[in-house]
Amino acid sequence: MTVQVFKAIIISIVITLHLRERGFFLIKLHDVSKSFGRFQAIKSVSLTIDKGEIHGIIGASGAGKSTLLRLMNLLEIPDDGEVEINGQNLTNLSSKDLRQERKSIGMIFQHFNLVANKTVYENVAVSLQLASFPRKERKSRVMTCLEFVGLETFCGKYPAQLSGGEKQRVAIARALANSPRVLLCDEPTSSLDPNTTAEILGVLEDVNKKLGVTIVIVSHEMEVIKGICNRVTVLANGEIYDTVLIEPSRIQMMDNSPRYFVEQLTEGRVIADA
Ligand SMILES: Nc1ncnc2c1ncn2[C@@H]1O[C@H](COP(=O)(O)OP(=O)(O)OP(=O)(O)O)[C@@H](O)[C@H]1O
Ligand SMILES: [Mg+2]
Repeated sequence: MTVQVFKAIIISIVITLHLRERGFFLIKLHDVSKSFGRFQAIKSVSLTIDKGEIHGIIGASGAGKSTLLRLMNLLEIPDDGEVEINGQNLTNLSSKDLRQERKSIGMIFQHFNLVANKTVYENVAVSLQLASFPRKERKSRVMTCLEFVGLETFCGKYPAQLSGGEKQRVAIARALANSPRVLLCDEPTSSLDPNTTAEILGVLEDVNKKLGVTIVIVSHEMEVIKGICNRVTVLANGEIYDTVLIEPSRIQMMDNSPRYFVEQLTEGRVIADA
């Protein structure tokens, strides 16, 4: 081995160790597999989510996107392989330590999963209660999170009194309450119209840029993935087909006026009794 090759190997080892020490790799899946009965939903997947990135996972319905996301916080227990978060191997932790580690992982869903008989304030407060957050500091923490998503005046409202976009903002505030390092998002905009989708993606971008939270977002909507992600994993039949680097393009707001809708619906048509 030449001196140059030896030097290059030493330098790459030093850089790798340095990056790991700084927590550069936030989530690492090593050969993770998951079956439901005899059906193998995830087949020996290895994937690294870097600290600070917005990572997309896209693929056809049934490809295993939600299962892969749920494996990242061990809501699904892998049959094989390891899940590492910030250097901690979650697969080896006791259930008490796992509960502790899960506080650094927030999650939001397509259907918001808010508690119907609790107010906006209570929906956020409950996650602090469950995490035994100091009682005296709870109120200010809830208000900080609601302010972040622009809903500080909605404290006393119930989920049924909110629009879909507002519900998702509450869910984001709730997920942020315990200051997570990563936010896992499963189809967070699939129930929303295009403009509300753009707004929620804006909130998620703020969560990433202003709070430094790493985001993993599962979606079947190409526009969403192209609009916000830096790196995207394409999943097919429980396997990684490819992972690509992209430049997020941002989702454009649509004209929401009733006139625009009529124009779009009648474009190129002569209306008999207009
Ligand atoms: N708890 C479960 N029990 C049995 N089968 C399951 C379970 N969860 C998922 N599966 C199966 O695993 C496969 C992957 O499911 P998953 O929900 O991860 O897909 P997906 O890519 O998120 O699909 P979609 O885009 O429709 O949400 C599917 O065939 C599904 O039926
Ligand atoms: Mg899914």
